[in-house]
Amino acid sequence: MMRVVPLQSSGVRGHDNANVDFVRESFDSEAFGIEIGRIRAAYATSAAGYRLLFKSVLQRARAEHFQQVLRRTRLENLEEVWALEATGFEMMDVVVTFARSVAPAAALPVWPDLRVEEATDETFEVIAHERAAAFFVGIMEDRPAGYVTCVLHDHTGEGEIELVGTLPEFRGRRVATRIIERALPWFAERCRVVTVRTQATNIAAANLYERVGFTLRCTEATFRANVATALRAQP
Ligand SMILES: CC(C)(COP(=O)(O)OP(=O)(O)OC[C@H]1O[C@@H](n2cnc3c(N)ncnc32)[C@H](O)[C@@H]1OP(=O)(O)O)[C@@H](O)C(=O)NCCC(=O)NCCS
Repeated sequence: MMRVVPLQSSGVRGHDNANVDFVRESFDSEAFGIEIGRIRAAYATSAAGYRLLFKSVLQRARAEHFQQVLRRTRLENLEEVWALEATGFEMMDVVVTFARSVAPAAALPVWPDLRVEEATDETFEVIAHERAAAFFVGIMEDRPAGYVTCVLHDHTGEGEIELVGTLPEFRGRRVATRIIERALPWFAERCRVVTVRTQATNIAAANLYERVGFTLRCTEATFRANVATALRAQP
């Protein structure tokens, strides 16, 4: 089992009961070698309220030596989207989140040509970077053919399949399908709902998730601000 690293969280209060939850993205910060923060939740009653909120986050991010701030939000949150654009955030991509409920299984699935194991050794701990609570690997023809990482979120009580991959030579042979089918009972012992997210353009992944029982929950856009540039552009 791998350790789940809790994100450090702290709120910033704006005017008019507006507030925001800003956290460090440890995985991305360490992967890219720069300090990256994420606005995990934001609430304001108007576009002006959101603007003040995001400006205060950027100022705080600069004081705390963050170089980038990320925010993912639903596209229908127009006031928030306008405020992000107005405070120097740029849209990076569109992501779709799928969800499904899980229930404990009587027996774990088995297949004659594919063995799915929960990896526990240090190599996988390094790959998953202490981020995953479990890491399932599918072995086909005596070789690792694909993997799935499982994350549990304390703040929502939901599980998340964070990474899914099948080596190109094994694709189209239901490797990912079956590793997910093996991961779902693991989740069922720990949570009721599992989500998985991918870029809206990743049709293979979206088809895969629907095939294993997930349905579309929401469509969001990811915004990114370069802290120094965004603050320089502030009126
Ligand atoms: C997406 C990915 C994990 C699928 O792995 P896989 O082992 O080939 O998937 P499966 O064989 O289990 O396919 C299951 C379903 O996914 C869909 N699918 C898989 N590959 C597809 C493709 N290239 N185009 C369209 N649909 C595809 C199909 O609906 C398929 O069901 P079907 O066989 O009944 O038609 C694999 O293509 C991959 O590793 N891609 C790169 C990494 C990635 O994008 N990961 C997901 C986002 S983090």
